[in-house]
Amino acid sequence: MRTQVGIVGAGPAGLLLSHLLHRAGIESIVLELRSRSEIEGTIRAGVLEQGTVDLLDSVGLGERLHREGFLHHGIELRFDGRGHRIDLTAHSGGKSITVYAQHEVIKDLVVARLAAGGTIVFNADGVEPRGFDGSAPSIHYRHDGDAQSLDCDFIAGCDGFHGVCRPSAPPAARTEFSRSYPFGWFGILAEAAPSSSELIYAHHPRGFALVSTRSPTIQRLYFQCDPHENVERWDDARIWAELGARLATHDGWRPVEGPVIQKNVVGMRSFVCEPMQFGRLYLAGDAAHIVPPTGAKGLNLAIADVRLLAAALIAHYRDGDASALAAYSAMALRRVWKAQRFSWFMTSLLHLFPDATPYQQRLQLADLDYVTGSQAAQSSLAENYVGLPFEDAFA
Ligand code: FAD
Ligand code: DHB
Repeated sequence: MRTQVGIVGAGPAGLLLSHLLHRAGIESIVLELRSRSEIEGTIRAGVLEQGTVDLLDSVGLGERLHREGFLHHGIELRFDGRGHRIDLTAHSGGKSITVYAQHEVIKDLVVARLAAGGTIVFNADGVEPRGFDGSAPSIHYRHDGDAQSLDCDFIAGCDGFHGVCRPSAPPAARTEFSRSYPFGWFGILAEAAPSSSELIYAHHPRGFALVSTRSPTIQRLYFQCDPHENVERWDDARIWAELGARLATHDGWRPVEGPVIQKNVVGMRSFVCEPMQFGRLYLAGDAAHIVPPTGAKGLNLAIADVRLLAAALIAHYRDGDASALAAYSAMALRRVWKAQRFSWFMTSLLHLFPDATPYQQRLQLADLDYVTGSQAAQSSLAENYVGLPFEDAFA
């Protein structure tokens, strides 16, 4: 088989890249380890930045998102039993966020690719990118027990943090930066009406908690936990007692409770691989970098990467201009590091750090007091949360 761009991974990065290339008349094939039902059923992120929504809109993927997603103009930071609303729209020149689950974005992308005759090879195992240091890359894999190979001009490594593309680049060519956190997030889906019309990020002496939503009848909530926590040790009553304690306000606010229909633990890590290009292999999304979820940046960053990468590939094929491809890694990394900074900031602001000294605990409260009391600090938070403007010249 042969195509122009061989894409590894059918997450948001890989599928959107394939869609953007198709719209510019560039062929691609997506190779995905898992089945369609698995990728469409994995519960992950939920917050789309304004720029993400605008991009999806501009390429015909906004219809269901606007119908079923929730437009939010603010978030609440809650600490010391009191809520403080940050008006995102007022502090960001009119921008907002949309709460729409990642797996719904995935479903929309799969439908769009298949409707346009695109090829997504599900259940492709043993994927191995080869020859990307020369001029004739290929991807070897197995499908239905048969060995296959896909020849291509470029390989896009969109296969997430645990994928094969990044490790296939020579270790001496890569510099990796990472930081782990001594906690994880316990995430639940619950059958209950929304507890709040906007997201609530709560700091509490028992640990962080977050209230989000999915639909008029399903809520998404998280609370800080041990990264190795066993979800089976938590029945519904214990989960709601913990969330109730962490989210309580002096005026008696309680979350709306209901049956917990899904629970899992998410680890927390910051990671960046530099560069994001190795010959004809280009990394995008979690394959190159991950952030702790507190700033809701992971999915949005993956989308920002492929926006750049698609534009660079289009400039190459349409105009014979290789400069954008050459600039891709440096350009993408500028945004990546700013998202790393913001995600680290939000995580540090809101979580309980088990080894924090009393002095550091007081500083954290001072930070919360400053952020919620200062217009300048709220503008900075809002600008980052709704998504920094795209800075690329080749939009
Ligand atoms: P992915 O979505 O990881 O997609 C990669 C795809 O590649 C997957 O479908 C995978 O099956 C496939 N793949 C992997 N290896 C191979 C291989 N060898 N061959 C072929 N295919 C392969 N972000 C937030 O902002 N908020 C959250 O609440 C949040 N929760 C998360 C929970 C979890 C458990 C995880 C893992 C991430 C979470 N994130 C969250 C981060 C966010 O979901 C990611 O940043 C986003 O999915 C990145 O998209 P991606 O396309 O780069 O990678
Ligand atoms: C959600 C996830 C996040 O990481 C976040 O910061 C806010 C909301 C969510 O899943 O809805």
